[in-house]
Amino acid sequence: MALLHFGWFLGAGFGVQGWGDPSYGIGYDWKKPQVYQDAARLFEHSGLDLLIIEDGVTVPDTYGGTSEVNLANARFAPKHDPLPLVPYLLSATENLGIVPTMSASFYEPFTAARLLATLQHFADGRLGWNVVTSGSDLAAQNYGLDKQIEHDLRYDRADEWVSIIRKLWRSWAPESVLEDAERGVFADFTKVAPINHEGKFFRVRGPINTVPMPQEPVMVQAGASGRGRDFAGQNSDVIIALSSTPERNRQFRDSIRQVALAAGRNPDHVKVLFAVTPIVTANAEETASVKARRSDLNQAAIDEALQSISYLSGVDFKAFDLDAPLPELTTNSNQGTLDNFVKSAPPGSTLREILQVRANRDGLAVIGTADEIVDHLETLGEASGGDGFLFAGQVHPANVHRTLDPLVPVLRRRGLIRREFGDGGLRGNLLDF
Ligand SMILES: Cc1cc2nc3c(=O)[nH]c(=O)nc-3n(C[C@H](O)[C@H](O)[C@H](O)COP(=O)(O)O)c2cc1C
Repeated sequence: MALLHFGWFLGAGFGVQGWGDPSYGIGYDWKKPQVYQDAARLFEHSGLDLLIIEDGVTVPDTYGGTSEVNLANARFAPKHDPLPLVPYLLSATENLGIVPTMSASFYEPFTAARLLATLQHFADGRLGWNVVTSGSDLAAQNYGLDKQIEHDLRYDRADEWVSIIRKLWRSWAPESVLEDAERGVFADFTKVAPINHEGKFFRVRGPINTVPMPQEPVMVQAGASGRGRDFAGQNSDVIIALSSTPERNRQFRDSIRQVALAAGRNPDHVKVLFAVTPIVTANAEETASVKARRSDLNQAAIDEALQSISYLSGVDFKAFDLDAPLPELTTNSNQGTLDNFVKSAPPGSTLREILQVRANRDGLAVIGTADEIVDHLETLGEASGGDGFLFAGQVHPANVHRTLDPLVPVLRRRGLIRREFGDGGLRGNLLDF
């Protein structure tokens, strides 16, 4: 099979890494850049194309109306802002794409355009931006709103936000900077123009007050609802998708490619990367014991699952009887995620049954020996359309090494992972195959 793209999705963001692991905190401090730099170097040496750093701006207290479970287990909080980490990651690596998350809801477009342009100059074309719309009301309340604006309207606003940022980046023509010391002309004023944007949500005059970048940052997006897919297919270069069955992966990718085509884009320039969490074991016996441990639905496992879906959907799942069917649920937050959760088990299932079905199946986890995992990725990669995968997990040393050390040699032997990078920056690397 042909080469696949691989990346790492750091779902804990610039947050606590490895809490609960016996190696927690040994030789590293999650609050400082070094542990992320070490991981980034390993990703690059392994042949991964990019590192995506999640972000959110709340201390969740949706589950049971308190932050107790979240803070006791360091789930979704605390975390630092990912942007100041970016220069450290760039300085530790030469080819890895670095992709911080940015909220279209909470950054003014001019601020976002200027920050990203500045970082892209440091990055020599290796920067990406993971655009999120931040569904949480808790987040909105940190920015002067009572609640987050309506789901589809949020995407309309994000559409306008992205278009303004791109207009600002293009407000200096590529040949506008002359640096002509003889004539005493730094930049040609006729090639720099205001954008005079007046839209439904924003008014921005422009031009941007920094110079053109080596290439525009690669846009990353993870919307899964119908409106989210439209936004992603129209605007994004990389789509983060939660991996499911080969058929569902293929359908998801096809739906994104159709939107891209309808928008006049080349669908081959849009890479759909499926998130998986490899758990490498030594043998069949260990695989069986890992699976048995994961399917034990004890109180801690229930709390873990429910705090997560409560935060992601904005619905307090503590309010529901575990042994009764779930009521009809809707959300203004992450619709795709809620839908996915509710449909895990047949209609009419109790909440406990839904949780048990999810605990029994592997979900994003791929559990087995390195050869078995690579077999699975090879088959799934081909069946899903052949773009590639994101390894989802924390970046404390034990986790990155126990995942990549056994997997990468097998991926290399099978010719599935790149051995070298070109010089076209992150966009060039993504278009290599
Ligand atoms: C794998 C994955 C990663 C995501 N990362 C973030 C993130 O870092 N920050 C954030 O606010 N939302 C994140 N989201 C949420 C998405 O950006 C999006 O808002 C969400 O999937 C809901 O979209 P939908 O309503 O179109 O399904 C992520 C979603 C997925 C599936």
